[in-house]
Amino acid sequence: MADLSVDLAGVRLRNPFLLASGIWGESGDSLGGAWKAGAGGVITKSIGRLPRPGYPNPTIESLERWGFLNAMGLPNPGIEEYPKEIETARATGATVIGSVFGADAAEFVDVAERMERTGVVALELNLSCPHTEGLGSEIGQDPAEVEAITRAVRERVRVPVIVKITPNTADPVGLARAAERGGAAAISAINTVRALAIDVHLRRPTLSHGLGGLSGPAIKPIGLACVWQIREALTIPIVGVGGVMTAEDALEYVMAGACAVEVGTAVAFEGIGVFGRLVESLGRLLDELGFESVRSAQGAAHGSEARAPMPARRRRPPRSR
Ligand SMILES: Cc1cc2nc3c(=O)[nH]c(=O)nc-3n(C[C@H](O)[C@H](O)[C@H](O)COP(=O)(O)O)c2cc1C
Repeated sequence: MADLSVDLAGVRLRNPFLLASGIWGESGDSLGGAWKAGAGGVITKSIGRLPRPGYPNPTIESLERWGFLNAMGLPNPGIEEYPKEIETARATGATVIGSVFGADAAEFVDVAERMERTGVVALELNLSCPHTEGLGSEIGQDPAEVEAITRAVRERVRVPVIVKITPNTADPVGLARAAERGGAAAISAINTVRALAIDVHLRRPTLSHGLGGLSGPAIKPIGLACVWQIREALTIPIVGVGGVMTAEDALEYVMAGACAVEVGTAVAFEGIGVFGRLVESLGRLLDELGFESVRSAQGAAHGSEARAPMPARRRRPPRSR
């Protein structure tokens, strides 16, 4: 069976499937549950300095097979309260990555320092939430802000800093480059894509906040394009995020240049049993394709061979789910 373990900026993961931030990660028990179900690591929901209630309902809408539209408004208990959840998760042996958000560099640094003290193996900076004014992608669309916040955090913590970038930009490579200049150890690409749905009977947006963020199968090609473009330009490790529902989806991200992937909407659709299914089917898929490890498939869709005309016999068979 192919070796599924991967290295993410010096952190060894038993497999490339990380629980994505904000889905199933609200408590230590749920984080620990995802680990016990087979995740390679778990990312906490994004935590800020103070408790936030988030937006009033409705905050999430299922768009059937496309995925979810959500505008939660970053509800969280604040960094004072959250460490006990990480302690509970770590007691299961879980590899925990702490997700942090803030309004400015000072808040990011404050929360990151306190999050690091909980024993997380890395920090993910959420510079990319598409629906929270003054937070997330409003600052994360500006490369100078991305660089400054990353550098401010990097100077104050020892664990690797992963910067989660927004797809709501004309230049994802510019954002990744800015994060790298600021000292990021890795990039996560992507957060949700700014989106809207309208209830024609009520003549208003379906979510209380109006605009939301799209996740799930509909955004996989966007996430893949960002990962692929960043890998063409930079050597920094990349975590692929967006629409990973199957082992084949994950392998697409790996071939585009990611070393690991995050899984969010698939967990919401299927529950944490999805991790066992993904781990098993990725092992089988790699064996079938003749790869001895995830690492050996990384970046396989780049280079001159990947750009040569495709012989008819190598065209891919229809996808299975
Ligand atoms: C309900 C919901 C809540 C989310 N909350 C967060 C969050 O707190 N922090 C964050 O960085 N991303 C958050 N995300 C984005 C996911 O981590 C992920 O980037 C996105 O959903 C794309 O992956 P997916 O298609 O596998 O869901 C959230 C997504 C959803 C659907």
